[in-house]
Amino acid sequence: MSEAIGVSILGATGSVGASALEVIRMHPDRFKAVGLSAWQQTDALMALVCEFSPAIAAAAPEVLSSQLVRAGKFPDTTRYCSGTAGLKETAAHPDAATVVAGISGAAGLESIFAAAHAGKRILIANKEPLVMCGNLLRRVARESRARLFPVDSEHNAIFQCLPEGLQREVIAGRGLTENAIEPAVTHVTLTASGGPFLRTAAADLNTVSIDAALEHPTWKMGPKISVDSATLMNKGLELIEACMLFGLDESQVEVVIHPQSALHSVVYFEDGSLIGQMANPDMRIPIAYGLSYPDRIPSGVPPLDLVAMGRLEFEAPDIERFPCIGLARAVIRQGGSAPIVLNAANEVAVEAFLAGMIRFSDIPSLIDAVLNTYENASATELSVVLSIDQEARAAARNILAKGLYRIGV
Ligand SMILES: NC(=O)c1ccc[n+]([C@@H]2O[C@H](COP(=O)([O-])OP(=O)(O)OC[C@H]3O[C@@H](n4cnc5c(N)ncnc54)[C@H](OP(=O)(O)O)[C@@H]3O)[C@@H](O)[C@H]2O)c1
Repeated sequence: MSEAIGVSILGATGSVGASALEVIRMHPDRFKAVGLSAWQQTDALMALVCEFSPAIAAAAPEVLSSQLVRAGKFPDTTRYCSGTAGLKETAAHPDAATVVAGISGAAGLESIFAAAHAGKRILIANKEPLVMCGNLLRRVARESRARLFPVDSEHNAIFQCLPEGLQREVIAGRGLTENAIEPAVTHVTLTASGGPFLRTAAADLNTVSIDAALEHPTWKMGPKISVDSATLMNKGLELIEACMLFGLDESQVEVVIHPQSALHSVVYFEDGSLIGQMANPDMRIPIAYGLSYPDRIPSGVPPLDLVAMGRLEFEAPDIERFPCIGLARAVIRQGGSAPIVLNAANEVAVEAFLAGMIRFSDIPSLIDAVLNTYENASATELSVVLSIDQEARAAARNILAKGLYRIGV
């Protein structure tokens, strides 16, 4: 057996990070955690540093400085760094051949680009950077020979269903349509559990609690993606992510509600066949596949029991009650800066909901109000993407403070 592959895990203290570390623990002969990042949870980070002795560890500047004072207690073979610069250093560290991108939100943008510029093999769970500028990330990956592996469960399912030649195109950042190979793929369907409010009446969405929004019926995830799953914005973001990653048009990506979360997505081929991927809803499966591709290794997840499941249900999403999918479709058609603005407005809206400042049903109204204030612009450089993101957040906070998102105001 050759030497273990070095892996940097961005967002090691989160839900995706925990799944990645569980797979790494199962396969110490194959993988070694050489870089770990956290943000606020430094005690959890330090426990991981003691367990894995990585070459580098990063966290937020305001929390890591006090930890540094205590650094004598922790392995002194680890280099400690902080802030966005620390995340980028962890992503590009020479000991890491593979990077797991598991930070939540746009906060992961710059570290993913650092990994891409350094030519890493990147397992992308952190969907927001793809939503904001997936085409730019693919361009950088092509130039630097980085490798992009979709790990978001639906996109990983699509990837698993593709023939190997098309998989290689996706990994290389060329998508399904920028190649000489006849794609034969006509469209894809993303499945969605429907979230905790699948059967909640529209009027009752005004009063749902924060705890109820965080209670996802089938997946255990961090707070931001859990709220996104409840508004169905998660599926909107995934729709944009699919267009960006696979080079598809908005019209080639369908969304279907599938409450059991057993079929993770479907690829349609021109002969009328459709191929899907099924598994228990557990991120260790896509992460293990991304880490070991093209091999398969045990992930620690038991196989899906079809008889116990009994039935699979499918229905169309209710886009009146859940307007976020429509907002996502509109911005992908507009292109340019529109997806950056949608993502920034959504992050501000979710933070405001989790802080008890707005109602659940205000989330799409706030995003819509922010989108309506924007002239679309092109965003083909990272610096431009970052500045549009900041401007859109400021606009969202302004609209929030003035209450201009409320219907009729
Ligand atoms: N969870 C899932 O099953 C799942 C499935 C598919 C896709 N995803 C995607 O994967 C990403 C991570 O989701 P998650 O559920 O794992 O989130 P999570 O549990 O909230 O974890 C987020 C991680 O990012 C770190 N972080 C938070 N703010 C940061 C900042 N400003 N700068 C740098 N790091 C920061 C957190 O550190 P601290 O906790 O130390 O502050 C934590 O390690 C999201 O983009 C999500 O959409 C998740």
